[in-house]
Amino acid sequence: MTNPSERQITGNTRIFGIVADPIYHVKTPQVMNANFARLGIDAVLIPIHVKPEGLAAVVAGLASMENFGGLIATVPHKPEIINLCDEVTGEARHIGAVNCIRRDPDGRMVGAMLDGTGFVEALKTVTGFDPQGKSAFVAGAGGAASAIAFALAKAGVTRLTIANRTEAKAQELSARIRAVYPAITISTDATTVADHELVANGTSLGMKETDAPPVDFDQLHADQVVGDAIMQPEMTPLLRAAQARGCRIQLGKPMLECQIELMIRHFNILPQ
Ligand SMILES: NC(=O)c1ccc[n+]([C@@H]2O[C@H](COP(=O)([O-])OP(=O)(O)OC[C@H]3O[C@@H](n4cnc5c(N)ncnc54)[C@H](OP(=O)(O)O)[C@@H]3O)[C@@H](O)[C@H]2O)c1
Repeated sequence: MTNPSERQITGNTRIFGIVADPIYHVKTPQVMNANFARLGIDAVLIPIHVKPEGLAAVVAGLASMENFGGLIATVPHKPEIINLCDEVTGEARHIGAVNCIRRDPDGRMVGAMLDGTGFVEALKTVTGFDPQGKSAFVAGAGGAASAIAFALAKAGVTRLTIANRTEAKAQELSARIRAVYPAITISTDATTVADHELVANGTSLGMKETDAPPVDFDQLHADQVVGDAIMQPEMTPLLRAAQARGCRIQLGKPMLECQIELMIRHFNILPQ
């Protein structure tokens, strides 16, 4: 373990990065660098501000850097960067996005999508909820919701509802999940919130106080676990409504915190 203030970047330090546009809001450099120090890993993660039109050139450049270890991708790059990887995990291919890329010693870029696994890991550790054999309602069909829905399917839910403003996107996501997990009963009926053991918000509704509710709050009840992907604010209107009805709740931050460990594992840099 190293005191972060005593860490020095030397000629041996491996470089990692996070690509985003804009970049100012990212918290990963602080969190990841603290973890590198805690785990005694000689590495540094830096913010890399790149616009969509520059992404391919940046990734090609990083792949040719011998001391580059890997890359985290966030908005808006997660769907595009998958096409710049040499190899991606099966889960990332199903979801159609990548948020963590390891650079192997031969320069190959290996992508994974860890958003959804982070959500499920956080569920298990924070609320004690194991999706195996349970039913889940996922609001949204964008990047976060797709990752959460696929991770819940992988974790063993038997019934899944995907509800989205743009119904066609919910149908399309349902079809993709059904193709991989044919045994799961999947619906897109937004009116069935009360019939599920887990309610997850993967939409951006709740970032502003004035946003419409992502699900019908009146259907929440104390037997449910309710999770939100949104990190800012910490307590979204959904989580406040769920808490008021006696539900167990999961904030957005643990979803990211659990991913940090998964990212370090994907980077393959844990000391032996
Ligand atoms: N905690 C974490 O680790 C983590 C990781 C990833 C993302 N997130 C958070 O998850 C949230 C979603 O991000 P994302 O990347 O998935 O975004 P995205 O791909 O743009 O998807 C946005 C989703 O929200 C829905 N939506 C947006 N505005 C809406 C409105 N006015 N009414 C109804 N539905 C609306 C969209 O529906 P349509 O399809 O109809 O447009 C879509 O389903 C963000 O708050 C993000 O910060 C958190």
